[in-house]
Amino acid sequence: MKAIEMPKKGPFISDIEEIRRRARQHMEKGAVTESYKADRETVIEILNQALATELVCVLRYKRHYYMASGIHAQAVAGEFLEHATEEQGHADRIAERITQLDGAPDFNPEGLLNRSHSEYVEGRTLTDMLREDLVAERIAIDSYNEIVRYLGNDDPTSRRLMEEILANEEEHADDLKTLLETLGREK
Ligand SMILES: [Fe+2]
Ligand SMILES: [Fe+2]
Repeated sequence: MKAIEMPKKGPFISDIEEIRRRARQHMEKGAVTESYKADRETVIEILNQALATELVCVLRYKRHYYMASGIHAQAVAGEFLEHATEEQGHADRIAERITQLDGAPDFNPEGLLNRSHSEYVEGRTLTDMLREDLVAERIAIDSYNEIVRYLGNDDPTSRRLMEEILANEEEHADDLKTLLETLGREK
């Protein structure tokens, strides 16, 4: 097998004194140092859209949790509640990252749906609700994939956060698909 040639890299830290000097220079910037390569304003705006997406998902799953009724409701309601709690966790982590970037997390209910990528659909039956949640998860998966690609190596911390959330949304979508299949079979 032919060995893969790795591109040669320069020394990892070229000038530790310089790094120390810059770190002291703009203390008020907190976690944002001069090596931050992304367009901070844009990243904050994107993260605020993701925050809105998560908040809308919390509300939708809560509504579905309280409205779930029928023979299969218990198992499905439990899943709705679990998802609502996890979406809230995502919202919190995104808001925290926004503040690390010296931004302000947008929790304003006005315009929440416009900032959100996914929609708030109430759904009438259990199957409706599951379908709408699956659609919302698929939208989140698509847009978070976009965000991960956009962040690339310019903001690895935000990228990693969004990758972790993305993996969790994929689990949600898979849960919903399984529940829909189970309901469909038993009808
Ligand atoms: Fe989420
Ligand atoms: Fe989700």
